[in-house]
Amino acid sequence: MKDNLAQRKAYSPSCERNRDPILALLKEVFADKKYVLEIGSGTGQHAVYFGERLAHLRWQPSNQAGGLDSVSAWVEDAGLPNVNPPVALDLFEDDWSETLGLDAALSSPRVDALVAINVIHIAPWEATEHLFRHAEALLDAGGVVFLYGPYRYADRALEPSNENFDAWLRRRDPASGIRDFEAVNAIAESHGFERVEDRAMPANNRSIWWRKLA
Ligand SMILES: C[S@@+](CC[C@H](N)C(=O)[O-])C[C@H]1O[C@@H](n2cnc3c(N)ncnc32)[C@H](O)[C@@H]1O
Repeated sequence: MKDNLAQRKAYSPSCERNRDPILALLKEVFADKKYVLEIGSGTGQHAVYFGERLAHLRWQPSNQAGGLDSVSAWVEDAGLPNVNPPVALDLFEDDWSETLGLDAALSSPRVDALVAINVIHIAPWEATEHLFRHAEALLDAGGVVFLYGPYRYADRALEPSNENFDAWLRRRDPASGIRDFEAVNAIAESHGFERVEDRAMPANNRSIWWRKLA
């Protein structure tokens, strides 16, 4: 049984590189949070690493329908009481409440944070609008959206490493690419969020988080 889990667990070296700097920040940003929904959980490594070290949180991983097996295997193998089995969520879907088992006003605890690590430059641009649309529907005032990844800023040139990464992304899939911070922030604001902070992370990545206004 365990052998089978080992085979199903995909492994991402970048998760190992970025997990500790992200964890250090999540300890701060999610200190008063209870229920985190992770979008685009990838292999599932982050869910179990963060879930184990942020034991005050319930962690709900998710991924597109075709990408659940590795996440399930990591979650099952870790057997953590606060990390749920992953659910299938696509940013382009209209409504997540049925999948999440949320009867809007009644569910307790409510999801009070959304986290998406290295997702918005992979998904088509419209996915960012959908992400904040879902966040607006799911979160109460004070709820947080936390995004990690590379960004382009209007007042400075993209770092050479990110220029190369962006070209590689667009060659592979023209709908993907490093997003403009100002455009992402405008979407966040249009859905009732204000930016809390934008922190530099290793390897020219950023952690940016927004809070839902009352
Ligand atoms: C580069 S991987 C990052 C995975 C993981 N968060 C990490 O940092 O290792 C991009 C993730 O975005 C997810 N993704 C892409 N398009 C999506 C969409 N439309 N809805 C939900 N997730 C999406 C992929 O399934 C994948 O899990």
